[in-house]
Amino acid sequence: MSDRVYIFDTTLRDGEQSPGATMNLEEKVSLARQLEALGVDIIEAGFPAASQGDFEAVQAIAASVKDIQVAALCRALTKDIDRGWEAIKNAAHPRIHTFLATSEIHMAHKLRKTREEVLVMAEAAVKHAVSLCPNVEFSAEDASRSDWEFLAKVCERVIRAGAKTVNIPDTVGYAQPFEFGELIAYLLRNVPNAGDAVFSVHCHNDLGLAVANSLSAIRAGARQAEVTLCGIGERAGNASLEELVMALHTRHELYKVDCGVKTQQLYPSCRRLSQIIGQPIPPYKAIVGPNAFAHESGIHQDGVLKNPLTYEIMTPESVGRKGTDMVIGKHSGSHAIKAKLIELGYQLNEQQLGVVFGAVKELADKKERVFDEDVEALVLEMVYRRRDKYRLKDMSVFSGTGGVPPHAAMVMEILDGEEVADFKRATSFGEGPVDALFRCIGKIVGYNPSLDRFQINAVTGGTDAQATVTVRIGHNGKMSVGRGTNEDILVASAMAFINALNRLEKMREENEECPTL
Ligand code: KIV
Ligand code: ZN
Repeated sequence: MSDRVYIFDTTLRDGEQSPGATMNLEEKVSLARQLEALGVDIIEAGFPAASQGDFEAVQAIAASVKDIQVAALCRALTKDIDRGWEAIKNAAHPRIHTFLATSEIHMAHKLRKTREEVLVMAEAAVKHAVSLCPNVEFSAEDASRSDWEFLAKVCERVIRAGAKTVNIPDTVGYAQPFEFGELIAYLLRNVPNAGDAVFSVHCHNDLGLAVANSLSAIRAGARQAEVTLCGIGERAGNASLEELVMALHTRHELYKVDCGVKTQQLYPSCRRLSQIIGQPIPPYKAIVGPNAFAHESGIHQDGVLKNPLTYEIMTPESVGRKGTDMVIGKHSGSHAIKAKLIELGYQLNEQQLGVVFGAVKELADKKERVFDEDVEALVLEMVYRRRDKYRLKDMSVFSGTGGVPPHAAMVMEILDGEEVADFKRATSFGEGPVDALFRCIGKIVGYNPSLDRFQINAVTGGTDAQATVTVRIGHNGKMSVGRGTNEDILVASAMAFINALNRLEKMREENEECPTL
């Protein structure tokens, strides 16, 4: 058996299904490029039949990455597979990923199909996919709750039809590690043509076992793991890429398998995701959380100072965590800024470089030291959010302890593509300065979403640090997260609220008819 495990990243598809993790096209392309730099083998770019927006994003990603495979998810339907293929056919290494449920509960209640009908449908879908693209993956949705014998039959049929990868998902996070490993071993023993395909696993984290189940499956012979950065995904999420990779790496003597991930790119990749989706990495998140390498107790600190291996099973450097570099000052030239952007993994064109250069210089004039985090926040704001519908133009806020209630005035740009279509202004009183600002925004856009979460973090240390504000808003049953970064916390608050509104707007525009099957 091969000792190479393929890492299939589904942050852009299953991960994006995580509440509040919607990304726009530019953000998706930027993350896809980072995943390429990270060294994953396959990225699942999206579900092209789900919406026009998804289709365009998958197409753009397919055109942007060259060294890795790009997969499109499709139901086991000819129209989905055709649409998926249309989106990825120009990729350097395309893969069609088609899926159909195989558990009794899904077949009886969701599909309303018999076992025989499911077998025929799965085989037909794979044959059609193979007629378009030689690289086809089939997933047996809810495999972990399927009858093992029937599942083996499905695997045999789809491999015979030409599937090169057979994925065994624990769709509802129900499996236990020893049992899931046994299932993989059973399939490898009982599917007669198992040797003609790579067996893959895709685990959800409902019982907190997604990584453990994936590792158990690898130990039993699975050779592809489907994962997401920071474990984001439906409900409790998917198996976390960085945890799985570091477990394989740190306990290599146990698993005896390798993957192509460059572990030093793990932290930059998770940080990029966190910036894009506007959600901070949780403090206790293994490998990449702020506390993951922080030693608080005196005994631990003493031990680590004497020899880091006393309390560290891996080094922060091995996952790409280095001290924050001070990089740019007000005398830095365009070459230094360009070099820094390349080091941070951004490939910008000349026009984008010009915009970022201007913004970095402006910040360096106000702030003594500009850190990597500052530069990243500016790139996201100035490049990847440029085509958003709403943008902050000007604002002023009055607050204090006097008798006049806090109030704000604001001007916003309403964009059509990159063109300014209109300027709108509003003024409002509020309970506090943030409330006054958010009321102005509500007046301008014509509705008032609920504010469900509001959080401020300093991007770096120092009293002149930029602040990142994260908000979660809701409207008409839809929820959205937004993030804004600025030296002024009130400006950052307005930017975060506007960012969340832009994401809501995008959801509304695409108004995806949730596909059913
Ligand atoms: O969880 C799941 O079963 C999936 C499949 C579509 C692979 O996401
Ligand atoms: Zn899934």
